[in-house]
Amino acid sequence: MLYVIDTAHIEEIKKCVEIYPVAGVTTNPTIISKENTDFGTLIKTIRDIIGPDKMLHIQATSMSAEKIVKEAMELQQFVGGDFYVKIPVSPEGLKATKILKRSGIKVTMTAIFTQQQALISALAGADFVAPYINRLDNIVSDGVHVVSEIVEQFKNYDLKTKVLAASFKNVEQVHKVACVGSHAVTVAPDIFEKLIYHPLTYYAIDDFEKDWESVYGDKKILDLIG
Ligand code: E4P
Repeated sequence: MLYVIDTAHIEEIKKCVEIYPVAGVTTNPTIISKENTDFGTLIKTIRDIIGPDKMLHIQATSMSAEKIVKEAMELQQFVGGDFYVKIPVSPEGLKATKILKRSGIKVTMTAIFTQQQALISALAGADFVAPYINRLDNIVSDGVHVVSEIVEQFKNYDLKTKVLAASFKNVEQVHKVACVGSHAVTVAPDIFEKLIYHPLTYYAIDDFEKDWESVYGDKKILDLIG
């Protein structure tokens, strides 16, 4: 399982990278627009924080295959490192994906809502497909079920494309896509924090501290064996 951060907020990225086993950062035009700052500086800063080896997914903003390809190539040069261009699944997006694959540029096909969109994206050469879990759940579909069938299809046809499940609003959704074999998830920083939160853990930590202090006072291990 790869955990990816779904934000372009610099301070949040710094914090998450320091604490969690983060494999990279995903953005989309909405996420970038929220920062309302110079785009080039923003993506360069993200790359500097995460380093060249972590994935950075940036979405193309053009609609025609020709322009998407151009944007992807320029972005790759500009931002460097382990770069993926995100392309919404559409006829022009698929055409661009086939061209980019021949040039060795990695593609994450995004805004995936159906199993067939995922399968066709994989056959066009996408490295990742990004199904939108919460947006599916919101229309009384079943995001986890869609992910489970995409994972199964990729296994059935021996495809190397990975599932990067996206659009989460709670821990249960993340847990359930992990159970059905999603290769990766991209989650916003607030959900990241909740992934490891449990009140009983904090009670346990408090008890350990109190029990230790009842015998050793404020001395710590290094004071006793140093
Ligand atoms: C990630 O790559 C997607 O663009 C994102 O997770 C969508 O999330 P949302 O449904 O919360 O906007």
